[in-house]
Amino acid sequence: MSRSKVTIVGAGNVGATCAHWIASRELADVVLVDVVEGLPQGKALDLLESSPVMKFDLNITGSNNYEATANSDVVIITAGVPRKKDPVTGQFPSRDELVKTNQKIVGEVTRQVAKFSPNAILIIVSNPLDAMCHVALRESGFPAERVIGQAGALDTARYKTFIAQELGVSVRDVHGIVLGGHGDTMVPLPRHTSIAGIPVRELMAEDKLQKIIDRTRNGGGEIVKLIGVSAWYAPAAGSVEMVEAILRDQKRVIPSAVLLNGEYGYKDLFIGVPAILGAKGVERVIEMQLNDEEKGMLEVSAKAVRDVVSILGY
Ligand code: LAC
Repeated sequence: MSRSKVTIVGAGNVGATCAHWIASRELADVVLVDVVEGLPQGKALDLLESSPVMKFDLNITGSNNYEATANSDVVIITAGVPRKKDPVTGQFPSRDELVKTNQKIVGEVTRQVAKFSPNAILIIVSNPLDAMCHVALRESGFPAERVIGQAGALDTARYKTFIAQELGVSVRDVHGIVLGGHGDTMVPLPRHTSIAGIPVRELMAEDKLQKIIDRTRNGGGEIVKLIGVSAWYAPAAGSVEMVEAILRDQKRVIPSAVLLNGEYGYKDLFIGVPAILGAKGVERVIEMQLNDEEKGMLEVSAKAVRDVVSILGY
């Protein structure tokens, strides 16, 4: 059996950390791609040189072009500019400007990726996440089951971390899910959260739970405030969880941004829902039975996603 191949576009913090987790789980050969000369080659070489110690038999390379990515099984797209202050004007770009800039970058990257790996499954990590999934779908021409946004894996991981911390229990025993767009209107679902099957509300007071929900919604911003740039360990871990589910055909149920086709009452919109991920990509969307309050929160989140998507001009 030949080894799987994963391309990671963007050799920044998230991209390089994805390569690191992939190597640590010995999942696939990795090609790290970036426009900056030397950066993907150097990070790939450094990681490869850890292999005799960490004991993984993988080929890890870096490149500034897409020929090297040919016939990848999975491509993780992390490329794009973050929202940061312009050093000259001191202004932050407006959200519309950021969307347009990343639309151009993700669009160009996706065309290259699709040309060299027409059968790949794309995992989108670039922000604004849900809108960038629309860009990747359109520019790749791939069927929707092969374009998946990474958001729920990260948001759910943050949610579970905070619950485990608060209750003093293992993260392994916390089960839960976060739906919706990857923004501050995302929808953590306490009714579907348990500790080894015990409903969280039996163990935690409502005010503490609501604080955790708020903290989850602002989880990305909390890291930016602390470090000055976006997070990378947890976003990369979420991405690699999805890669593993696909390459090992695990049929994992991972909340992911997928193109809905009537599920939850939405059509032609990428939004975070529980999805079964396996060798074919999104193999099925699971439709949960939401109550009116949960449906209302999902609608608020879907509207926020639609507003950003409308900027793309499709
Ligand atoms: C976050 C950003 C990277 O949630 O989307 O950390």
